[in-house]
Amino acid sequence: MSSLDLLFGTQSSAAKGGDIRKVTLVGAGPGDPGLLTRKGFDALQSADVVFFDELVSPEIIDLLQPQTRCIYVGKPCGSAAMSQSDIIEQLIRAARAGLRVVRLKGGDPMVFGRSGEEIEALRAASIEVDVVPGITSASGAASSTRISLTHRDYAAHVSFVTAARREGELADIRGLAGKGRTLVVYMGIARARALSEALQADGVDAALPIAIVENATRPDERVIITTVRELPNTVARQNVRSPALFIVGDVVRTYVPADASAASDARA
Ligand SMILES: C[S@@+](CC[C@H](N)C(=O)[O-])C[C@H]1O[C@@H](n2cnc3c(N)ncnc32)[C@H](O)[C@@H]1O
Repeated sequence: MSSLDLLFGTQSSAAKGGDIRKVTLVGAGPGDPGLLTRKGFDALQSADVVFFDELVSPEIIDLLQPQTRCIYVGKPCGSAAMSQSDIIEQLIRAARAGLRVVRLKGGDPMVFGRSGEEIEALRAASIEVDVVPGITSASGAASSTRISLTHRDYAAHVSFVTAARREGELADIRGLAGKGRTLVVYMGIARARALSEALQADGVDAALPIAIVENATRPDERVIITTVRELPNTVARQNVRSPALFIVGDVVRTYVPADASAASDARA
């Protein structure tokens, strides 16, 4: 019998006798534990079991009660600790065992978090789903860098795009960047060259600034300023690591480094 079988063989004391079967999806925010919502904190405190992702910071896991079971189901660099279908199966089993189940995801669970698939599968299994939003990493990065994504002098539109579509190709970014627009690119490190080329093919100025924000809101946050043309070279030269996102647009001109040593890699 696996440890999961043992776990699911025991019912939560609160759920015993009741027949509500529920999973709560909680957004952990971008890393700083102070950015977890109060509602998310309460859900974590009362959970019997928490299934958590790669990008959930250790400081948030430290907030859990000692008796709470933590099950890591992350996908470091695309390789899964547990496949998406296994994750869904375990969520269903835990909920059916009467446990108070939290599915904890980095950022906001409803932004590039595969929550849609999990909600559909849980509903199909007649399991109730609650969602507690989190601060998405674009908001976290905007705040920690003080780059307002919609600064009125520069942008009236903001788009969030993933560079990693299900089929592996770059998302269609036509019309999303350039004058009056801010584009925030999630999961872009491995597709920096394709992104740079696609932006230039769309007529975006090669000198348009980009802020690369690595580990936003965490103690090891790093901000690198570059340009559309230089993006792939900067990512390689500066050895940019996940998690990182790109803020593309004139709003980046408002960035003021916290100290004079902050990196700049623009060679426009
Ligand atoms: C699978 S998506 C999850 C997004 C998450 N649901 C959110 O709302 O932020 C993972 C990507 O989010 C971005 N990301 C998440 N946390 C980040 C952080 N602390 N700093 C910079 N980017 C982050 C990166 O682009 C990373 O590759």
